Amino acid sequence: MVKNQFLEAMNFRHACKIFDENRKIPKDDFNYILECARLSPSSFGMEHWRLLVITNDKLKKRLKPYCWNQPQITTCSHLVVIKAIKKDLFPNSDYVKKIFFRRDLPKEKILNYLKVYENFMQDKLNSKELFCWSSKQCYIAAANMMTGAAFIKVDSCPIEGFEKEMVEEILEIDKEKEEVSLLIAFGYRVNKAPQKKRLSLDEIVEWR
Ligand SMILES: Cc1cc2nc3c(=O)[nH]c(=O)nc-3n(C[C@H](O)[C@H](O)[C@H](O)COP(=O)(O)O)c2cc1C
Repeated sequence: MVKNQFLEAMNFRHACKIFDENRKIPKDDFNYILECARLSPSSFGMEHWRLLVITNDKLKKRLKPYCWNQPQITTCSHLVVIKAIKKDLFPNSDYVKKIFFRRDLPKEKILNYLKVYENFMQDKLNSKELFCWSSKQCYIAAANMMTGAAFIKVDSCPIEGFEKEMVEEILEIDKEKEEVSLLIAFGYRVNKAPQKKRLSLDEIVEWR
């Protein structure tokens, strides 16, 4: 059953700590994982994520000390740095116009919708809030990439354990334009996954 297949993928996914350095993800499979990000939903359809894919061993080695020395960084096949856009999100930017005007709506409706966006953005126009909002959307794409990967038996590890400023410096990120939201390592596990530990539905769900 389709439901079981999806849950199987959810159970297969775990935060993989060490990847098999000799196994690389085939191009076609990795493109499918990227597609899972591309098709993700985002607030106002702004597609806040930009993906920097690192396969270069030297660059991975340079990043590792600033990622809490986690072995995932250098053992993975593909390291994805998810950057959250900032500058382009300002109302009236060419990017915002592009995103709004690609909708199949009459011009008048689009202009009204742009006003709604402008109001929505009023309290988000400082650098911190902008990054925070943009970064939230990046996590949606991240989750979809990891679940999608698990569906084809590719392992992953989301990585928040990194020194943001140093990673941004090494990657020469223009911080006015974008900031690093999180990293995800993709590859194939060496060790068996530990047993899943989760709260029960009763502990996390409330019905009214
Ligand atoms: C946003 C985020 C950041 C994380 N950062 C790290 C990390 O830096 N290193 C690591 O080993 N695991 C990291 N994890 C993995 C979590 O510890 C893991 O998902 C959680 O313990 C549940 O285990 P499971 O994913 O294996 O089911 C992160 C998870 C998330 C969602």
